[in-house]
Amino acid sequence: MERVGIGLIGLGTVGGSVARILDAFGERIGQRAGVELYVKRAVVRDVAKYGEFSFEVTEDLDALLDDDEISIVVELIGGIEYPFEIAKRVFARKKAFVTANKAMLAYHAQELLECSEGIPFGFEASVCGGIPIVEILRDSLVANEFEGFEGILNGTSNFILSKMIQDKYEFDEALQMAQKLGYAEADPSLDINGGDAGHKLLILARLAYGINATPEEILIEGIESVGLEDMCFADELGYVIKLVGIVKKEEDTLDVRLHPALVHKDKELAQVHGVKNAILLHGDCVGELFVSGFGAGGDVTASAVIADLVQVARLRNTGTCPYPPFGFFKIPQALRLKPREEIESAYYLRFVVRDEYGVLAKITASLAHFGISVNQILQKSSNEKAKIILITHKIQEHKIDLALDQIVTEGLLLQSPYKIRIQ
Ligand code: NAP
Ligand code: HSE
Repeated sequence: MERVGIGLIGLGTVGGSVARILDAFGERIGQRAGVELYVKRAVVRDVAKYGEFSFEVTEDLDALLDDDEISIVVELIGGIEYPFEIAKRVFARKKAFVTANKAMLAYHAQELLECSEGIPFGFEASVCGGIPIVEILRDSLVANEFEGFEGILNGTSNFILSKMIQDKYEFDEALQMAQKLGYAEADPSLDINGGDAGHKLLILARLAYGINATPEEILIEGIESVGLEDMCFADELGYVIKLVGIVKKEEDTLDVRLHPALVHKDKELAQVHGVKNAILLHGDCVGELFVSGFGAGGDVTASAVIADLVQVARLRNTGTCPYPPFGFFKIPQALRLKPREEIESAYYLRFVVRDEYGVLAKITASLAHFGISVNQILQKSSNEKAKIILITHKIQEHKIDLALDQIVTEGLLLQSPYKIRIQ
């Protein structure tokens, strides 16, 4: 069987799994690829940390890039600018490039597209590990125009939220467990602050709508402010709190945002627990499609990397990719990103007040002043303090913010008010 040499840059959680799976299951993968895929060489920062492999492990990147037996280079180191420089060097050598690096793609997708110049370029592993969502959006659902989609796109944060509500773990304890299991990023703050899921959301928005936006242009909020108390109140009201990515098309506007949201327990996304990811899509031909699977971890991500390797190996005789990596030869419609002030949602609001007559009436009067209507209410009182939780009907976000400012100014609150959108 013909052999195709692979260069691995990074041999950590994902790179280590790619090497192990190709070694253990090379034969069955080769039967589908039509060639034998083998790792020729791997590059790491510190060789001393690594044991014996059947291939050379080195710190010499040039040796890997200049190796004529390597026709596919896989970048699995993370970061943004350095891997982008590597990608450009790979394309300049006319080698195929595969990556799991969503941060680099969120900032440099357009430039990567331009410098790939038709050279095969795969990034299935960059979004939702075990769910082949890149192929679904780019190829399988090509007949569809999308009304929008929503998803749970970060395994670590979903794991943390699930452990907190189901197993009563402390936030830090759940994060440490996710790190130990290989789910978290090298810099786990990206998992917590929504950065990682925001990067993935932009890749999906580009695949579905051809939109070219950077993380700074969209609303990204993480799970740092989500506490167990609010998760329990939400539970009583029939909701769970999830970190949700949302893309919604409204005529020439695209609402793209990533933030914690209350999701009703009856909804599919509410039932996605642990390190699982999920996406709920609405296409005009296909209707509703819900996909769910493991979103992080070495083997899960390596499975997607190897899918790209097989795809590239199947193209080896042409050396070019017959389709655009992000799915569009021509972008169908220029869409403007919806500004934050125009966001419309229902809201969960929590107020901590002195348990005195008239306080609730004043809060609801301020809400009413801005046209905000209350849908559900819950109050918990202890030690002369009351926690008032309100669920509003749908309203523009700027009106909620004005109402909260007014309530703060009235001096009714013992703590800053807390707000979460409801999906
Ligand atoms: P990791 O466990 O931290 O491994 C990183 C690897 O890259 C290590 O072998 C490291 O070598 C090497 N490396 C780092 N900087 C390098 C440099 N400048 N030059 C050469 N080698 C370098 O990371 P990971 O979890 O495998 O993630 C790798 C990529 O996959 C990231 O882009 C991440 O976002 C993405 N990803 C990860 C997952 C997941 O579940 N873990 C899922 C999807 C996508 P040393 O050990 O010598 O430093
Ligand atoms: N840290 C990421 C997550 C890895 O937890 O989802 C998968 O992209």
